[in-house]
Amino acid sequence: MLIHRAHVPVHLQPKDLSKWPFTVAGVRQLISDGLEFMAPITFLVGENGSGKSTLIEAVAGALKLDSHGGQAGGKYAPARPNTELGEILRLDASVEGMREFMGRRQARRGFFLRAETAFSMMNSFSRVPGYWSADTATMSHGEGFMAVFNEMFKRPGIYLMDEPESALSFVSTLELASLLQTLADTGAQVICATHSPILTAIPGSEVLEIDEHGFRSMPWEDLSLVGKRRRYLDNPARFLGVRAGDQDRRQA
Ligand SMILES: Nc1ncnc2c1ncn2[C@@H]1O[C@H](COP(=O)(O)OP(=O)(O)OP(=O)(O)O)[C@@H](O)[C@H]1O
Ligand SMILES: [Mg+2]
Repeated sequence: MLIHRAHVPVHLQPKDLSKWPFTVAGVRQLISDGLEFMAPITFLVGENGSGKSTLIEAVAGALKLDSHGGQAGGKYAPARPNTELGEILRLDASVEGMREFMGRRQARRGFFLRAETAFSMMNSFSRVPGYWSADTATMSHGEGFMAVFNEMFKRPGIYLMDEPESALSFVSTLELASLLQTLADTGAQVICATHSPILTAIPGSEVLEIDEHGFRSMPWEDLSLVGKRRRYLDNPARFLGVRAGDQDRRQA
């Protein structure tokens, strides 16, 4: 494990928690309790708007990774300012982690896939030395991301990812799961926001489910995203019928 805890020291904690991002329950819990990373792969799951990206971007900020996304030391757009939470967040790192992150910016090993800017980052770094040799402009959306993942996920370091599965088919998502597992087995650490029941099933990973009360570690079988999909796949017609009925009642 490279990073084993994220926390906000008492002297840096904001007094006024009435403004975003301190209104997000997961952020409040991070400030009050800290967040322990218990496994080489940590997934953050939860409904849209629950706070996953807010937490991932803060960790990227604490690592001084450009919050546009990309590799440590590399830039494809003028630096985006760190977030308020990223400025006050501190990471406890192992000796290996210190070696990876605390040196010169160019020598740091980290990769951040930011959901909102992932596509432009992919095209900007195509054929740039040290990035990927594939010309992603001539590939499909999902093919491009798989080419990037296959080339970039090769060495130890920290990999922060926000919904890396978003362009991928079922089969490609399985391939991504295998790449993440290999990364974790070879000493890298992955922190990943996802909505994927496939990725979260990676053996040995930890899944933190975030909701309006904060975050907590959950077994895969008990995740809301797994249970809901399972019920849907068991009987889509009934599920859609129930939803349609709800809608009719609301409109009546
Ligand atoms: N720059 C911002 N200013 C104010 N509020 C924001 C900002 N960015 C996000 N929020 C709010 O913070 C909350 C958490 O957003 P966040 O993007 O972290 O959710 P998420 O879990 O990543 O959701 P999704 O699954 O849709 O990506 C949401 O209520 C969102 O509206
Ligand atoms: Mg998000």
